[in-house]
Amino acid sequence: MTAPWKLPDFDDHEGVHLFRDAAAGLTAVIAVHSTHLGPAAGGARFWHYADPEQAITDALRLSRGMSFKNAMAGLPVGGGKGVILADRDYAKTPELLASFGRAIESLGGRYVTAEDVGMSDLDMVAIARETRYVTGLPVGAGAAGGNPGPSTALGVYLGIKAAIARGLGKTSPAGVHVAIQGVGAVGGGVARLLAQDGAKLTLADVDAARAHGLAAELGGTAVAPDAILSVEADVISPCALGAILDETSIAALKAPVVAGGANNQLKTPEDGDRLAARGILYAPDYVINAGGIINVVLEYLGQGDRAEVEARIGHIPERLEQIWAEAAESREAVSTVADRMAMRLIGRG
Ligand code: NAI
Repeated sequence: MTAPWKLPDFDDHEGVHLFRDAAAGLTAVIAVHSTHLGPAAGGARFWHYADPEQAITDALRLSRGMSFKNAMAGLPVGGGKGVILADRDYAKTPELLASFGRAIESLGGRYVTAEDVGMSDLDMVAIARETRYVTGLPVGAGAAGGNPGPSTALGVYLGIKAAIARGLGKTSPAGVHVAIQGVGAVGGGVARLLAQDGAKLTLADVDAARAHGLAAELGGTAVAPDAILSVEADVISPCALGAILDETSIAALKAPVVAGGANNQLKTPEDGDRLAARGILYAPDYVINAGGIINVVLEYLGQGDRAEVEARIGHIPERLEQIWAEAAESREAVSTVADRMAMRLIGRG
C-alpha cells in the first residue's frame, strides 16, 4: 500500500518530525528514515528555502540517502537528517541552536545529528549543551571526529582513483584531467589531494574568487560554473549541489567518468539509467562520499582513532568495485545495483 501523503519523496520513513519554537526562531524538520541498523545518523542542514515545503522534501530525500550511505559504509547506524529553515539573513543564534538541541533530545536518541551545509563544529558544541545525541564536535589531533569535510574529501579522492583505474585503465591520477564543480570543504580538499598526484585540474565555483584562487595555487584552470559539467575532461567531480545530473546535463557530458562528493547528484532514478546508456562510469554519491559520516560516527560510538577512520575510508574503493563489477555482470545501471544493495542492508530488499 502506498502512503497517502502528497509527498512524492516519502519512502516509508519511520518518522517525520516538524518543530517550531517561535521564541527561539526555530523552524526545523527532522526525518528519521530507518533505524534498522541503529540510531538514525545524519547531519543537520541550515538553509534558506524560498518554498518552505522544499525543506521537508530535502529532509525526506537526504535522510533516505543517509540510510543508504551508512549501511553501505558498514556503520551500525540508520539514516536521518535535520533541516533548519534559515531566514534570508541566515541569522543563527545560540537560542535557535539550543532549541534545535532540545528538539533532538525529544526524539530520545532515535536521531543523532552532525554538521551539514551551513553548520560548523562550533554549532555542534552549542547543540551539545541540550542533547547528547550529537557528534562532529571538535576533537584533538589523532582522534576520530571533528569537521567531516576532510574525511569526505579523502574518500572521494580514493573513489576517483578507483574510478580512473576502472574507467580509464590508469593506475595514477598523474596527467588525468579532473573537472571539479564546487571547491568548498569537499571539492577543495579533493583538488588538493589530486594536485599532489599531478592531476590536471579544471575548477568552478559560484564564488569565482575561490575557484580562481585555488586554480592559481594548484596550477589548474578556473572556468565559469555553467561550463564545468561539459568540460572535455576524464572525470567530472560534482562537489557542490544535488540534482545536477539530469537529461540535459547528462547529454552534454564529455567525460567518461562521474565521481564526486555532492549528495543526491541524480535528479531522478532514470538519470542513473541515462549515465549507463551513455557508457559513463558513475560512482554512486552515497558510497563515495561516506568519509565524513564514518569519521563522526566513529567519534560518536567512541570506536577507534583517526587511523581507524582512515582505514575504514580506505574500504570505499572496494565497495565501489563491488558495485561496478555487479553492474557490469548484470548489465544494469550502477545506481540500480547500488540502491538494491543498500535496500537489502536496511532490511527492505
Ligand atoms: P561547502 O559549502 O564547503 O562547498 C560547496 C561549494 O560549492 C562552495 O564553495 C559553493 O560556493 C560552491 N557552489 C555552490 N553552488 C555551486 C554551483 N552551482 N556551481 C559551482 N559551485 C557551486 O560544502 P561542502 O561541505 O564542500 O559540501 C559539498 C557537497 O558535498 C554538498 O552537496 C554536500 O551535501 C556534500 N557532502 C559534504 C560532506 C562533508 O563532509 N562536508 C559529506 C557528504 C556530502
